[in-house]
Amino acid sequence: MRPVAVIGAGKTAFGAFPELDLRALAVQAGEKCLRTSRVEAGLIESFYLGNFAGPSFVGQNHLAPYISMALGVKGVPATRIEAACASSGSAFYHAWTEVASGLYDLVMVVGVEKMTSQPTARVTEILASAGDLSGEIRAGSTFASLFAMIARRHMYEFGTKKEHLAAVAVKNHAAGALNPDAHMRKNVTLEQALAGKPIAEPLNLYDCSLISDGAAAVILAPLDRASEFTDKPVRVLGIAQASDYVALDQKEDITTFPAVRRASQKAYRMAGVGPDEIEFAELHDCFTIAEIIATEDLGFVKRGCGGPYAMEGHTSLDGQRPINASGGLKAKGHPVGATGVAQICDLVQQIRGEAGPRQVARHSVGLAQNLGGSGATCVVSILGAT
Ligand SMILES: CC(C)(COP(=O)(O)OP(=O)(O)OC[C@H]1O[C@@H](n2cnc3c(N)ncnc32)[C@H](O)[C@@H]1OP(=O)(O)O)[C@@H](O)C(=O)NCCC(=O)NCCS
Repeated sequence: MRPVAVIGAGKTAFGAFPELDLRALAVQAGEKCLRTSRVEAGLIESFYLGNFAGPSFVGQNHLAPYISMALGVKGVPATRIEAACASSGSAFYHAWTEVASGLYDLVMVVGVEKMTSQPTARVTEILASAGDLSGEIRAGSTFASLFAMIARRHMYEFGTKKEHLAAVAVKNHAAGALNPDAHMRKNVTLEQALAGKPIAEPLNLYDCSLISDGAAAVILAPLDRASEFTDKPVRVLGIAQASDYVALDQKEDITTFPAVRRASQKAYRMAGVGPDEIEFAELHDCFTIAEIIATEDLGFVKRGCGGPYAMEGHTSLDGQRPINASGGLKAKGHPVGATGVAQICDLVQQIRGEAGPRQVARHSVGLAQNLGGSGATCVVSILGAT
C-alpha cells in the first residue's frame, strides 16, 4: 500500500435548501472541491458517491453516474456506497483502497443527502430502514428510541446523567454558532438543553442531530504526486472500516460499539499512533449519547467516563482535545449520506489551519469517526499534516 493524501475538499453549507435538489447540492460541493485543487474533472479516474437514501428521500436511483456526469467526471467507474449514516465514510474508505493499492491516482468522493423535502415523520421512517425491519423496526423502534435505550442502559451501568448528555449539546451548539456553514448557529445553555421537548426518554430535542440537506466532496491522490495538485496536502495516516449486528437485540452489550473499537484499533495501528496522540476529532454525535460512547470506544477515556469527560470541558473548543469543533451532527447538521466526507473536510480545514474562530490549538493529527445505524458500520480515519 502506498501513502495517500487528500488534495482537495469542498462542502455546501448544511441546512434546509428548498431551491437545491440532490444533484445541485452534490455538484456544488464537487465543483468547490475541484476549485480547491489543481485538478480538472477530466483527470479523475474513479468516482464514489456516498448516499444513504436518495431513492426514498427524492425518488432518484442510479445516483453515482447521475452525479459524476453532471460534474464532468465522465466515463470512469462511478459507484454508489450505501452504509446508512456511514455511507460517505465508507465511500472514502473504498476510494482510499483504490489509490493506496495503486489502481488509480485520482479518485473523487462525494457524499450527499437531501432530507428536508420530506416531513419529519417520513424522514424518521426512511431512517429507520437502516435498522432491522424484521424485528426492532417492526416493533415500532426509531433511531431516536434505539439511542434512547442505549442512553438508559449507559445511565444504569455507569451513572451517566442527563446533564452529561446536555453538556455535549451545549458544547456542539457553541461550536456550530461559530461555523458559517452550520445548519443551526445558536448557542444553547445547559438549562435550555435540559428543557428541550421530549423525543424519546431520556433524549430530548437537544440530544438529537438535525434533519438537513447538504453535500461534501474530497479528492484523493498518492502522496508522492500531491504537490502537483495542491500546496496543502493532508495525509491519510490510518483508516479502517468495521461491522457489527444491525439489530440492537443481537448485541451482547448496547453501551459500546464493537465496530468502533475494531475500526479504531486498526486505524491506530496503521497510523502508528495511539488515542493519546489524537489532538482533535470529529465524532458521530447523531445523538449526544453516541458522542459520549465514541470517546470511550476510541480509547480517549475509560468506559463509563465519557459523560464527565464532556462535562468537565476537556472536549470543548479550548479543551485539551476538542471534539466536533465543526458543531458536529448536532449543530452543523446531519445530511446522513454527506456526513462522513464532511467530517474529512472538517479535519482537512483544521489541519490546514483554516478554521477561523473554530481553529483548534493543536491540529497536526485529527480523527474522524463515522457510524452507520446503531453501530453496524463504522469507519475511522486518522489524518495528519504531511
Ligand atoms: C428531533 C426531531 C424529531 C425534531 O423534529 P421536529 O419535531 O419535526 O422539529 P421541527 O422541525 O418541527 O422544529 C421545531 C423547532 O426545533 C428546532 N429543531 C428541530 N430539530 C432540532 C434538533 N435536532 N436540535 C435542536 N433544535 C431542533 C427547529 O429549528 C424548530 O425551531 P423554531 O421553533 O425556533 O423554528 C428531528 O430533528 C429528528 O428526528 N432528529 C434526528 C434525526 C436522525 O435520527 N438522524 C439519524 C440519526 S441515526
